[in-house]
Amino acid sequence: MNSFFSECVKKLQAADIAMPRLEARMLWSEVLKCAPAEVYENASLTDAQKEQIFAMLKRRLSHEPMDKILGHREFYKADFKVNTDVLSPRPDTETLVESALNLLPINTQAKILDLGTGSGCIILSLLAERIKAYGVAVDISPAALAVAEENAEHLGVCNRLNFICADWFQSDFTALIADKFDIIISNPPYIPSADIEKLADEVKNYDPRTALDGGADGYDSYIRIAELAPIILKNGGLLILEAGYNQAEKIRQICENHNMSHLQTIKDLAGINRCIIMKKAVAEPKKI
Ligand SMILES: C[S@@+](CC[C@H](N)C(=O)[O-])C[C@H]1O[C@@H](n2cnc3c(N)ncnc32)[C@H](O)[C@@H]1O
Repeated sequence: MNSFFSECVKKLQAADIAMPRLEARMLWSEVLKCAPAEVYENASLTDAQKEQIFAMLKRRLSHEPMDKILGHREFYKADFKVNTDVLSPRPDTETLVESALNLLPINTQAKILDLGTGSGCIILSLLAERIKAYGVAVDISPAALAVAEENAEHLGVCNRLNFICADWFQSDFTALIADKFDIIISNPPYIPSADIEKLADEVKNYDPRTALDGGADGYDSYIRIAELAPIILKNGGLLILEAGYNQAEKIRQICENHNMSHLQTIKDLAGINRCIIMKKAVAEPKKI
């Protein structure tokens, strides 16, 4: 290990960064334009490269998240642009993508609505895997939608995706959407407002508050989405929701109160009930 590399590792270690060597490799890989696994720790760097690494290291030592420093992050099978306007995509959310893909045949022409698209990680991963599907991505934040649009271009799915800047609490939301969908998928904000201050600095200082704050008990957006889903979904359509820790059962009840039937709850890799799949009942034939 050369001395500059070991200096980086030691500084990260001293700042209580959990995987200092891996993170040092990530910084080097960004500058050397290679994968972290390809970083040769004895590589000699130019002064300009060292300065670049040092500038990023300084930000990391003040606990700015690595992906926000690098400006991108891997999610599912692609690399997504991220910045402070969007929630950093989390590995837990890949459970939603995998669950949806399991329900979507390869040649599906399904119409999918992503509520709270952020970086676009969910809908873009789905459209990249199901090349005849069509999507609509909604977010209240124009800045987040700008990031999602860049990511859509990068993944080559723009021609099958529309972006709508809207607030799902607005009274004319369904009129604005003006379509019926096979699937609604959403990872809405679900942290109770009072808990946001207790989150790690990496989260509360760098992820947008609108992406985190789920109202007093964390369920405000679920209640609204459950209310909207039966109107926006086609008969037999699916609502796929991400849940926070210990929230799955209550979310299921909220949806059942809006005439949706429970299909499945799926655990993430940590064994937490992460993804709830609800189905809109097929309308009963009118009695004559
Ligand atoms: C938890 S983030 C999820 C982002 C992305 N889908 C993901 O899984 O990484 C929630 C997103 O919902 C958006 N959002 C929050 N409240 C909203 C509302 N009332 N109407 C529309 N979008 C909203 C936020 O701007 C944020 O991008």
